[in-house]
Amino acid sequence: MEGTEKKVALSGIQPTGIFTLGNYLGAVRNWEKLQKNYECIFFIANLHSLTTKRDATILKDLTSKIVALLIACGIDTNKHTLFIQSDISYHAELSWILQCLTQFGELKRMTQFKDKSQKNSSNINAGLFCYPVLMAADILLYNPDVIPIGIDQKQHLELTETIATRFNNTYGKTFKIPKGYIPEIGAKIMSLTDPTKKMSKSDENQNSFISILDTEETILNKFKKATTDSDNKIIYSEEKPGISNLLSIFSSFADCSVEDAEDHFKNKTYKDLKFETADVVAKNLKPVQEKYNELLKDRNKLKKICEEGAEKARAIAKKTLDDVYEKVGLK
Ligand code: TYM
Repeated sequence: MEGTEKKVALSGIQPTGIFTLGNYLGAVRNWEKLQKNYECIFFIANLHSLTTKRDATILKDLTSKIVALLIACGIDTNKHTLFIQSDISYHAELSWILQCLTQFGELKRMTQFKDKSQKNSSNINAGLFCYPVLMAADILLYNPDVIPIGIDQKQHLELTETIATRFNNTYGKTFKIPKGYIPEIGAKIMSLTDPTKKMSKSDENQNSFISILDTEETILNKFKKATTDSDNKIIYSEEKPGISNLLSIFSSFADCSVEDAEDHFKNKTYKDLKFETADVVAKNLKPVQEKYNELLKDRNKLKKICEEGAEKARAIAKKTLDDVYEKVGLK
């Protein structure tokens, strides 16, 4: 019955590495939370990950590891849909149609394209340039209501909105305009070694990020080495990016506001902040790691889960693509 259907939440993650505390707090934790009130569709964005050079065996291995990790983080594949992007060719097909509605100048303005091409100047490929359009296709194929993401994906979502509106205005109402779901705390977890930079799973410096699979000892060592400053005041402020980052991580896991976290550390030292943050992180990651190790023992089962997920998702995507083909005159 119309009006009583659950709203849809959709998001994706690239299998470019075991994900970090940034991916977890910025996105995956909210994916888990949204499952209660939304019909959820999540996927591993393996097509996106080809925009940087990848070893095929490693990519395949990482893809199934990310599936296990998402389930270990609480994605319930009995009730919701989890699939691998490349299993549904409609993503690439819709992406082409949307590319023809996207301006060169719009893609050139994307800050992630500028950052990534600066970091990897020997491989500025067309896929990297068109990356946000594939992301728009990922989203629009399923007409979702909300997209749980970290703040670094906000610009891509805004472009999705522009493309969807342009398509609707040109060919008639087809796509719903989705909204971002960006957490108040944790939307941008910063690098531990350079807190002016985003924490990233592809950072060469292993000490800059906490991987979800890091051991308790590694977590403590990385936090011990985290860059802070010299004035010993534990307050959240733009001038104190290292301390603010640690306070964000602590309060996300301790489920309190940043103000409560500041209060908690009022008469304490930077060492206390680092040790207590490491402790709360390790405690929260332990059950995820245990479940992950268990799940990874049966890769066939993980494969089956994704095949079933793709079957469900494909049916929705096909309906949208058929409609688009008809509207643009391909059918
Ligand atoms: P990816 O794989 O880079 O990151 C997955 C999610 O993690 C968030 N994130 C962060 N949040 C807080 N702090 C950080 N340091 C941090 N680093 C990453 C990202 O914002 C993201 O939500 N393009 C996407 C994948 C994608 C997608 C989509 C997402 C492809 N198609 C459609 C949503 C909808 C990406 O590269 O995510």
